[in-house]
Amino acid sequence: MGSKCRSPKPPMSPGSSTSPKPAQPAKLEKVMSMNGGNGECSYDRMSVVQAYALNSLQPSLAEAVKLMSLPRHPSPLRIADFGSATGRNAFAYMDFVVNSIRREYQARNMIMPEVQAFFNDLPGNDFNTMFGLLPPVKGQADSEGAGALVREYFAAGVPGSFYGRLFPKNSLHFGICMHCLHWISQIPPQVTDPESELYNRGSCWIMGGKPSIARAFAEQSKADFRKFLHSRADELAPGGILQCYLSGRTDLADPTNQTIPERRHRFLAGPDFESAWDDLIAEGIITEETRDSFNLPCYVPHVEEVRDSIDSVGGFEIVRLELLEELNLYPDDARMSMLQNPKKCAKFYSSWIRALVEPLMAVHMGAECTDEWFVRHERRIFNRCRAMLGNPQEQEQYKFLTADFLLVVLKKL
Ligand SMILES: C[S@@+](CC[C@H](N)C(=O)[O-])C[C@H]1O[C@@H](n2cnc3c(N)ncnc32)[C@H](O)[C@@H]1O
Repeated sequence: MGSKCRSPKPPMSPGSSTSPKPAQPAKLEKVMSMNGGNGECSYDRMSVVQAYALNSLQPSLAEAVKLMSLPRHPSPLRIADFGSATGRNAFAYMDFVVNSIRREYQARNMIMPEVQAFFNDLPGNDFNTMFGLLPPVKGQADSEGAGALVREYFAAGVPGSFYGRLFPKNSLHFGICMHCLHWISQIPPQVTDPESELYNRGSCWIMGGKPSIARAFAEQSKADFRKFLHSRADELAPGGILQCYLSGRTDLADPTNQTIPERRHRFLAGPDFESAWDDLIAEGIITEETRDSFNLPCYVPHVEEVRDSIDSVGGFEIVRLELLEELNLYPDDARMSMLQNPKKCAKFYSSWIRALVEPLMAVHMGAECTDEWFVRHERRIFNRCRAMLGNPQEQEQYKFLTADFLLVVLKKL
């Protein structure tokens, strides 16, 4: 196959046409989204993985609700989901939060006000698919089958980056942000500048890479986290609650150790993620530059890095801040039985990654090369799973579809 793939140079910043640098990557908030629609690699279908996490989060959400200051009827109760993607999970979280709050009003013998629910994401998010899935209003559903969600809130979409203000001051009572804050707002500019010492040559992420590059990601993550907290501190009413759930890591000292080495396939950019690029380069489908100029916009922080940001921003009491290790992202028996079927396992895992990063990769190197990339990625996972067949110990160590998370619950002072 010839080189059908673009080898994109990042667009130059305005006014820089006579100067060779600095080159700026496309503004991430313009191109970042999960896979839309409801095809087999859509976020809608593949976010069953993130959805499973709600099981382990329900107790902490219910506890957090007990601590919030409840607005008095008739002024509305406002809840926001930051980074809701295309909806299915967001509606499940919202349903759980609204029902928990209802129980709290009952327990305190108070009349519950009407609820406004806001679903935020970047403008590229598939809000159409999302609102097509919006549960029917209670009492107006054609068929309210057992288990089907009905909604007892007024819903609105809020496009924009959660690394800035999205709501008026003191207007929110409860905020959630699930599986989002490890996505940083931009790749540090030096990392995509071929003339910089921090250019990420030979890799598409920071795991196991140069410490200086990982530190640049850490700085970006810290700056983003602070902006997120500053904005939420403005928007939440006193006594309001903010609950966040994001990928977390165990090794504070070494940010290149985004997950400990023997578990490094557990975050999406494991060895198979890197190797799929190598395969495309070896086959002449893309150039090294195409891989080197792509960087996964993720940083997995340690709990102390998050604490540092919270302390420096102020305005919140920390209710919970902890690492939850080795949470299952899929039922245990289903995870283990999928491992006995390498084809199924590879398809599932690769489709899950595709739901998360295909739009970013397609902007970078075009749809055709992205398709080729996922063929290699799936093949790599297939070979890995096949090699583990008949070796239960290795399969156990693979920790397929498990991950470490940070749970952050804050109360606005
Ligand atoms: C993995 S999805 C999580 C979706 C959903 N909360 C869940 O738990 O299934 C992460 C979402 O965060 C969104 N996101 C990333 N950066 C964002 C930003 N700066 N502002 C708003 N949304 C952002 C992405 O577009 C994506 O939809």
